[in-house]
Amino acid sequence: MASLTVLLSILCSLLIPVSCSLDPKDVISPNILVNLHGQGVVIGNTNTTAWTGQSYMQFRGVPYAESPSGELRYKPPVPRKPWSTPLQATDYGRICPQLFTYNRLSPDKLQGDLEDCLTLNIFTKSLNAKQPVMVYVHGGSLQVGFASDHKPDYLLEENIVLVVIQYRLGILGFSGTKTPDMSGNFGLMDILLALQWVQEHISAFGGDSSKVTVFGESAGGELGGALLISPKTPPSAFHRLIIQSGSIVDRLATNMEPLAQVERVCRALKCAHCDLIDQSQQCLKSAPVMDLLKAAEGERFGLIIGDHYGTMPEHPAKLIEKTKKNVPLLTGFTKHDGAIVLGFLYDDFKASHPDFNSVRVADFATAIMTWMNDTTGLTNNAMQRLLFPAYLWHNSDHRRALPAYFDLVNILFFKSVMLGFTNKLFEKTEQSPIYFYTFDYAGEKTNFGFDLGNSQYPFNGGVHHTDELIYLFAMKPPLNAKDTEVAKKMVSLWVSFAKDGVPKVPDGPQIAPMECNRGPYFHIDKEIRMDNDILKEFTATIDDPNNKNLDRPSKMW
Ligand SMILES: *[C@@H]1O[C@H](CO)[C@@H](O)[C@H](O)[C@H]1NC(C)=O
Ligand SMILES: *[C@@H]1O[C@H](CO)[C@@H](O)[C@H](O)[C@H]1NC(C)=O
Repeated sequence: MASLTVLLSILCSLLIPVSCSLDPKDVISPNILVNLHGQGVVIGNTNTTAWTGQSYMQFRGVPYAESPSGELRYKPPVPRKPWSTPLQATDYGRICPQLFTYNRLSPDKLQGDLEDCLTLNIFTKSLNAKQPVMVYVHGGSLQVGFASDHKPDYLLEENIVLVVIQYRLGILGFSGTKTPDMSGNFGLMDILLALQWVQEHISAFGGDSSKVTVFGESAGGELGGALLISPKTPPSAFHRLIIQSGSIVDRLATNMEPLAQVERVCRALKCAHCDLIDQSQQCLKSAPVMDLLKAAEGERFGLIIGDHYGTMPEHPAKLIEKTKKNVPLLTGFTKHDGAIVLGFLYDDFKASHPDFNSVRVADFATAIMTWMNDTTGLTNNAMQRLLFPAYLWHNSDHRRALPAYFDLVNILFFKSVMLGFTNKLFEKTEQSPIYFYTFDYAGEKTNFGFDLGNSQYPFNGGVHHTDELIYLFAMKPPLNAKDTEVAKKMVSLWVSFAKDGVPKVPDGPQIAPMECNRGPYFHIDKEIRMDNDILKEFTATIDDPNNKNLDRPSKMW
């Protein structure tokens, strides 16, 4: 049956390449049943891979925890109770509560228990094999994001089991008071339970539970780091780690004032009493989800240091020194990761300074740097010396300063904090290999502006934050021929790392692990290339002979 699906989709693409809408689901839906020991039966269906049309099985929206609603809101996740009638796992589960995305959903999608979102999605080509398992933790500032954005059609070209998980977000997942009643770090605890589920059940899907790779991007990368250092992560939970464009030692990864935040949200909810912690907790526990999300709008969330259950007992920088977990690490950033922040900061600054011509380069650059809260002046002085010649600093030529703006945000928000994390690991004596990349490929598609568009900016997004995901997941299909070649390289690197802990590409150079905290490292572009001093990447944009491509000459600053 499955091969019939393949045949039909091949025929379909040969005959009517553009308008063909023959969805495998419409033709036949070969239901596949898997019995999860002690849990119940799940019913999945099939789909086909992007490049060679291989059939794969998918089990989507499989619950791994009870709904964290009612009495269970702000409680550690509870494993899902067994079910007796087979569970339809043929579509993605509901997304975890998040205002930005909810505002774009039709009202019928917002009925029922909105918090019942702790599901995972399993994709596999064989139920009997012993394949490496790749568990993806999505990003989204710990506030947004969901599984269905991460389609398996590229990664399933290889013989792996892909698991894409969801976890509690924002005010429901990353706020708390450190007390037994509302500890905090629920989103992280959800991920730990999902990893336990993988250990117990993945062999039923043809997965090898002794070869689990956790990979995550942005906030998902921060959470990957959190898993590596948390004393609550069991030694066998995973065996390799990929951290893309996120760092647990970033100031923004931790929630610095969680108690004040809970009180603020209590007041925004207009509860009668918010003076005592108990009162605020009670208010947040009983608020309707939508009200809670609205009351928390504009808040920033992060991991809570000193939570009651000990998932993050000390500052991450301290925990790195103590962790005994030692797994191969693949990590890196995109060439212009900071462009996402440059966009936000530009919007912000423009709102208060409509006439950018009267703003000096020094003013905008300084406004960016105040985000670092460095009161010593070191950041300002060092960045000025590294990126801004004196003549540029004092005039208003923002176009000429653009490459320097890019490098500034790249360094401050991504490149330096990511290196800070690996440097810390390097200080440990028994560290497994660390492979460091910079993703430099500018393809046809970009995530610049995400769903909101990017036409207001006087600059392009470059190799923007999350752009490498376009090549790992079928996020913006179809890809042109050149982009597909890069996607094949990405899949090869990530999957070979999941298999043996060493990233490889066919016909590419041998990729060496770092020998010291500055390299070697590698470039991912049309070709894969080794390089030696990663600190060069701090000036990747000002040194780039093609950096004029970042300018949009037709747009006013
Ligand atoms: C099959 O995969 C395509 C590409 O990701 C997707 O658009 C489609 O919805 C999937 N169909 C099913 C039944 O999952
Ligand atoms: C910077 O410090 C100020 C004052 O201490 C604080 O209000 C602000 O939230 C901090 N900014 C960030 C991004 O942490």
